[in-house]
Amino acid sequence: MDFKTLISNRYSVRSYLQKEVEEEKLIKILEAGQIAPSAVNFQPWHFIVVSEPENREKFSEIYHRNWFKEAPVYIIVCGDHKQAWKRKEDGKDHTDVDAAIAIDHMTLQAVELGLGTCWICNFFVDKCKEFFNLPKHIEPIAILSLGYPNNDKIPAKKRKSLEEIVHWEKF
Ligand SMILES: Cc1cc2nc3c(=O)[nH]c(=O)nc-3n(C[C@H](O)[C@H](O)[C@H](O)COP(=O)(O)O)c2cc1C
Repeated sequence: MDFKTLISNRYSVRSYLQKEVEEEKLIKILEAGQIAPSAVNFQPWHFIVVSEPENREKFSEIYHRNWFKEAPVYIIVCGDHKQAWKRKEDGKDHTDVDAAIAIDHMTLQAVELGLGTCWICNFFVDKCKEFFNLPKHIEPIAILSLGYPNNDKIPAKKRKSLEEIVHWEKF
């Protein structure tokens, strides 16, 4: 798949087949997150994989959507605020930026393997911290639902035009 096709074929999958994700594929997806760039190469992330049916069932209370329960795997991407780079000038913590790149790498690797994901941030974050008994400096940033999409059609993308978002230099 060429790069343009790959990025165009990625979409938020909210319906999954009841088909397991092969372990080799799951490892490839995690490796795609692992090789993502990060500020000062600090790699301030941890990936929690939830795939056992019993654990998935319990975990699905973190995000109340019927389609979420269909996904055979959840990857919880956590940021480590102690490890992340903070910019000297203003103290900006880059945990979110770094985690987002790792997540995006994983979503694209999934597409190449015929899988789909949905990037989820609107979950119960406190419940999620409690669920894994996370220390204060570890923040669950996003959940990726992962599985085989229950749909062959890739929905059309709704995006702003380049004119709206690109600003050519004008001094
Ligand atoms: C940071 C972020 C948070 C998101 N959170 C959610 C979410 O909580 N629930 C959900 O269904 N989709 C969520 N999405 C998916 C977006 O709605 C989706 O990416 C956007 O509508 C564009 O559609 P597409 O991914 O199909 O191209 C999130 C996406 C991003 C990047």
